[in-house]
Amino acid sequence: EQRIADVVARHTRDIADFPSPGVVFKDLTPLFADPAAFGQVLDLLAERHDGVDVVAGVEARGFIIGAPLAQRMGVGFVPIRKKGKLPGDVVSASYDLEYGSATIEVQTDAVTPGANVLVVDDVLATGGTAVAACELIEKVGGRVACLDVLVELAFLPGRERLDRWELHTGLVVN
Ligand code: PRP
Ligand code: MG
Repeated sequence: EQRIADVVARHTRDIADFPSPGVVFKDLTPLFADPAAFGQVLDLLAERHDGVDVVAGVEARGFIIGAPLAQRMGVGFVPIRKKGKLPGDVVSASYDLEYGSATIEVQTDAVTPGANVLVVDDVLATGGTAVAACELIEKVGGRVACLDVLVELAFLPGRERLDRWELHTGLVVN
């Protein structure tokens, strides 16, 4: 969706060599700091999704987008958190990082069976986080209606790894 890409592009800063040398970090804090621009992105996201029962966001940056989006859409918000943070019964999914691995979790009763879940995050890079998040939603009985991220790093294999799910991205970085 071109309008989302335009707003995101105008409110993203490139930070060289963060978090490690050679990496260009896509910093979305200017978007979050601008209520008109952020509101416009949330409105456009809300507009393009129909029949969503619940929004799930991935800690931490997915929370910044997911919680206000869920409110705008009039549905609930489900936090997918890093391991050990959620109380009660949880299911886990692990994914590889450059060095080592990471685990994220969701509560077993987070969604009603068959619910249409919109999964959101800020950036799609290698796709590890997004694949794990979508798998978690399915493990607890939800249906991934769509995965929506604001920025897609298209030089990494994220999109190919997500071919089981509908994927929407805003700004595509080549
Ligand atoms: C960043 C970003 C995405 C993920 C994308 O999160 O917010 O969630 O990486 O990378 P991937 O596609 O290679 O998995 P990060 O785990 O750095 O932490 P944060 O959201 O808590 O800042
Ligand atoms: Mg993240």
